[in-house]
Amino acid sequence: MLYLRHCRSLARVCLYRTPRLLLQGPASSLPESAGAVCTRWQSSNGGQDGWGQRTKIPRWRHMGAGLLVGTGTVLAYGLYHRQVQQASATSKSIGSIEKPSDYPVYTQDEVARHRTLTDGVWVTFKGAVYDITDFVALHPGGDKILLAAGGALEPFWSLYAVHNQEHVLEILAEYKVGELCPEDLKKQMGSSCDPYAGDPARHPALRVNSLKPYNAEPPTEILSENYITPSAFFFKRNHLPVPKVDPKAYRLEIHGLPCGPVSLSLEDLKTKFPKHTVTATLQCAGNRRSEMNQVKVVKGLNWGIAAISNANWGGALLRDVLMHVGYRPGFPARHVQFEGLDVDPVGTSYGASIPLGKAVSEEGDVLLAYEMNGEDLPPDHGYPVRVVVPGTVGARNVKWLGKIILSEDESPSHWQQNDYKGFSPGTDWDTVDFKAAPAIQELPVQSAITQPQEGIVLDRGLGTVTVKGYAWSGGGREVVRVDVSVDGGQTWHVAKLRSGEEGDQSPPPGRAWAWKLWELNVPLPPDVHELVIICKAVDSSYNVQPDTVTPIWNLRGVLSNAWHRVRVRVKED
Ligand code: MTE
Repeated sequence: MLYLRHCRSLARVCLYRTPRLLLQGPASSLPESAGAVCTRWQSSNGGQDGWGQRTKIPRWRHMGAGLLVGTGTVLAYGLYHRQVQQASATSKSIGSIEKPSDYPVYTQDEVARHRTLTDGVWVTFKGAVYDITDFVALHPGGDKILLAAGGALEPFWSLYAVHNQEHVLEILAEYKVGELCPEDLKKQMGSSCDPYAGDPARHPALRVNSLKPYNAEPPTEILSENYITPSAFFFKRNHLPVPKVDPKAYRLEIHGLPCGPVSLSLEDLKTKFPKHTVTATLQCAGNRRSEMNQVKVVKGLNWGIAAISNANWGGALLRDVLMHVGYRPGFPARHVQFEGLDVDPVGTSYGASIPLGKAVSEEGDVLLAYEMNGEDLPPDHGYPVRVVVPGTVGARNVKWLGKIILSEDESPSHWQQNDYKGFSPGTDWDTVDFKAAPAIQELPVQSAITQPQEGIVLDRGLGTVTVKGYAWSGGGREVVRVDVSVDGGQTWHVAKLRSGEEGDQSPPPGRAWAWKLWELNVPLPPDVHELVIICKAVDSSYNVQPDTVTPIWNLRGVLSNAWHRVRVRVKED
């Protein structure tokens, strides 16, 4: 990096010292705007004749070449510099390129078209657009930075916090090619007859399982990089369009109380009750459904292993709110129903319920959350208020919460009655009786391998393979062990578990709401060209994951928690 910066500084010096050379290009060949010149410079700099065509040669090499022969980059940079001067009469220095008005404005769609080395790799950061094509080749995590291509850098930089430093920002500034249009910037930070037209912008790195409604999971390779999943990469599971809720007009209605319905504002929730924070993992019942699909086709989105994420949630305890509005132990209700503000075309909202005992338990930690990872809930995750039911299947964590009902009955909603239930492998769509099975609440023990990825080739010379992943169990049961095998289950090694920051205390018994990340280095077995890497977790009740999918297969593809297997190859030296 230092070398890179050094080259650039020298390039600038060189630039200032060769003014005649800089002004040699014919004025007629200059494009209309400074931004256009900038774009052209970057493509022609790669030695290609077409606009937007790229080479894989790192930019510092161009800089180096410029330094040596005084042409190429320096000339191009000079042309650019000159054009900037023309574009702004007041611009006198290179520093002027930082002025937003000097750059062309791009839409998010235009940025999103630049996601490969061939098309160019563009990213946005704080409203500016950067062409980092050449930088990618230099970056130690080049493959990971490509995940940010076409979208915002911010969520990646909260994953890889090391980047958020002044000198990195300085380097980034040199790749600036434009500004993001204000509308898209607003969308990023924050209609028509398409009910999904108002959906928020999402990060293009997410692996989309369905666009409308929007359902996506983070790329596996970044899932276990951070204990707390950045909100932008937290998996998103929507059944309906994301509702637009005005926080000032927001009301939460509570029904089923002896004193009649009560309505609370967002301000009430924030000011009348102590704020609690809980670190909790949410997992969709359909996580790892794709593995069930491989055994026999199931109905549902084809989730990989990443319909699971971990966040810090902040809000009022549901227990506190219910006590405040008149609930007392012994009250004749068995369930607490929740209704979302997201509605289908006939006005039916998403709904679910949880047992009353969980809702009012002092140890249940059920939140009416208005914060996620220290900020307002993002639109996709339930702004302005959602229920967070730690240890319970994602489906009961109702977003955009509009109504709470204390009742003798479970929620009448489709998602409580006719979905998110488990069945025998022998049950098919002709014989299934949804009334015969209980609604899923606590989830079974789960784990999966995030590294290495399926199909990669390991170098025998490395001697060992690093295996990483996540593990979690429902109902507050702590994961106490993760076993890993690299020989298809013949021999096993115990992984090192990590929860939160170093030195974090283990959670109180029965309240382990957050996942554990795990990792270990295993020697490569001799004389094999293919490894079957397996993980399985054990929770505090000594529940273990089943060996294979077949005995737990079910027609909706839920509760998929068999040993996770990844096949990789070993390349001899
Ligand atoms: N709440 C509402 N109102 N609408 C929904 O579609 N989806 C549920 C749950 N809460 C949903 C909802 C499901 S199935 C899951 S897995 C979780 O939200 C996903 O939460 P997330 O999108 O914040 O990850």
